[in-house]
Amino acid sequence: MNKKVLVLIIVLVVFVLIGSGIYLFTKDSGENNENAPVNNNNNNDENNETDELSTLVVYFSNSGNTEILANFIHNYVGGDIVALEPTVAYPEDYNDLLDVAQEEQQSDARPEFNDLNIDIEDYDTIFIGYPNWWGDMPMIIYTFFDTYDLSGKTIAPFNTSGGSGLSRTVGTIRELEPDATVTDGFTVLGDNVDNAMSDVEEWIDPLGL
Ligand SMILES: Cc1cc2nc3c(=O)[nH]c(=O)nc-3n(C[C@H](O)[C@H](O)[C@H](O)COP(=O)(O)O)c2cc1C
Repeated sequence: MNKKVLVLIIVLVVFVLIGSGIYLFTKDSGENNENAPVNNNNNNDENNETDELSTLVVYFSNSGNTEILANFIHNYVGGDIVALEPTVAYPEDYNDLLDVAQEEQQSDARPEFNDLNIDIEDYDTIFIGYPNWWGDMPMIIYTFFDTYDLSGKTIAPFNTSGGSGLSRTVGTIRELEPDATVTDGFTVLGDNVDNAMSDVEEWIDPLGL
């Protein structure tokens, strides 16, 4: 009788042990299965937010030519596009505009622009567009370079002009942003901007951005 009871107890203990083992094993596996994809997704989401930098097209355009070019470029490369809008509007009269632009240049002015609502750290490539004004960039472009630290980023300059092309502006940008990579620039006559798309693609493709 005692022997039978002992055998029964041993059998029960063995069952309990096996049962507990199976329970713990399936519980662990279940938890791992549930958590693994969630954790991976979280990590991927975080990586996407922090690691993937984008392209910004930023431009100033007074009479619309550079804006057309900027939109071509934005449609081709994607990312975001923002316009530099002077807080004090330029004169509508062309001769007055010529005078104001020249005065700004001679006084090395830094005309202010409205808040761009961007975080520059979101971008690793900056396309910067401007009209040729008196053989140089409009001074508002200097304000942009003063405002943002573009170290480590790639800057791709483009402009429209009445015939002077880029003048010395690409070299100037390299001086203003010595810790950035400044690509070759792209220029087109303001009057020809509507037909510039294929030239834009030929400029951008070899840059490998
Ligand atoms: C103040 C001012 C200065 C300019 N200076 C030059 C110049 O030195 N060389 C040139 O080729 N075009 C010059 N232009 C012509 C513009 O570069 C050209 O019209 C450009 O396409 C205008 O671009 P936007 O329409 O984006 O403002 C000047 C225009 C203005 C308003």
